[in-house]
Amino acid sequence: MTPLRTLLHVVGARPQFIKLAPLLRALAAFPFRSVVLHTGQHYDDRMSQLFFDELGLPAPDHHLGVGSGTHGRQTALVLERVEDVLRQQTPDAVVVYGDTNSTLGGALAAAKLHIPVVHVEAGLRSFNKRMPEEVNRVLVDHLSSLLFCPSETAVENLRREGVTRGDTPDPPSPDHPVVLNTGDLMYDAHLHGLSIAERTSTILRDLGVSPGRYVLLTIHRAENTDDPEQLSRLVTFLNAQTAGADVIFPMHPRTRAAYERCPTRFAASVHLVDPVGHFDLLALLRDATRLFTDSGGLQREAYWLRVPCVTLRDETEWPETVSSGWNTLYRGPASGPVSPAAPLAYGSGRAAALMAGALGRAFAVAVETRR
Ligand code: UD1
Repeated sequence: MTPLRTLLHVVGARPQFIKLAPLLRALAAFPFRSVVLHTGQHYDDRMSQLFFDELGLPAPDHHLGVGSGTHGRQTALVLERVEDVLRQQTPDAVVVYGDTNSTLGGALAAAKLHIPVVHVEAGLRSFNKRMPEEVNRVLVDHLSSLLFCPSETAVENLRREGVTRGDTPDPPSPDHPVVLNTGDLMYDAHLHGLSIAERTSTILRDLGVSPGRYVLLTIHRAENTDDPEQLSRLVTFLNAQTAGADVIFPMHPRTRAAYERCPTRFAASVHLVDPVGHFDLLALLRDATRLFTDSGGLQREAYWLRVPCVTLRDETEWPETVSSGWNTLYRGPASGPVSPAAPLAYGSGRAAALMAGALGRAFAVAVETRR
């Protein structure tokens, strides 16, 4: 019998829990043992446990309790503690997701131990290195052996940096990486989540809002929250833009703390609520008239649901959402005309299956060949 190969998944923040779920489901058909490591970057129940519960994720095999801190300290703690686990577990590959400090710490620990890194959501660029996430993305892509891109734009970004598709070497390595356009794993999670949200979510009733009668707002990025003047400018902008409409604002803990220091107040029509789970957020977004956000995940979810979005940033890693007309950048030029019939970018919702197949080819014997 083929011995099981071990994949160690490093997650730590909300969007990573959401993406882990479809990939674990798809991997069940392959001879892998998946070990889940939670760095502890997000730790409040509403930022972490709620997602494990509602997504049916297994309890993490390792919980590192890293918590909050400066970027350097948080990344360093992830690096140090992931290294300890990798030395014990010696997995065949480490899978990292997105662009958080957990992604970078996990990838760096693995690369230093010569364990292949698999990057889910590779090749995205905002071309703004003042964003902590941009630094994380660039570094992780250049450490990775297997890179799963959500779009051709992402493949092209990597090619320009010399990270190319490679010649299907066996096994892939950081010097001979394999780059694949699998589509966006978030889209798989989105389709699955939406069907559950439609059946189960009571959030509109709980919050006392009616479909098509409110705006949804989220803000959590450091560049929008850490400087009270910037947050103040946003509050003024949002009060003006949403005048007369009810606004639902599930508030990230970072933003709640920052708002306490902010000299400008939201209008009474902006309802500040606790962070909500993935299914409730999908239900809220689906029935919103508009979205204002600085989240990368929500920009795509709005685009897939065809809810007009204003991104509270100067640039985006998801340019297809803007060129399609569904997303506009705050302070940026107006987006193109909306083309409702245009096919949607970022894959077909089969990213998890494509990733599992590629992982099988790279690191294990695929099921078919075992039979
Ligand atoms: C992180 C990611 C960001 C991602 C987001 C997803 C980095 C650099 N950024 O941002 O790319 O979009 O996760 O949600 O990794 N806090 C709590 N409780 C928690 C978690 C955070 O109170 O459970 C507060 C703390 O004050 C903390 C602050 O939020 O300092 C920021 O948290 P952190 O994990 O550093 O970054 P995020 O803003 O969540």
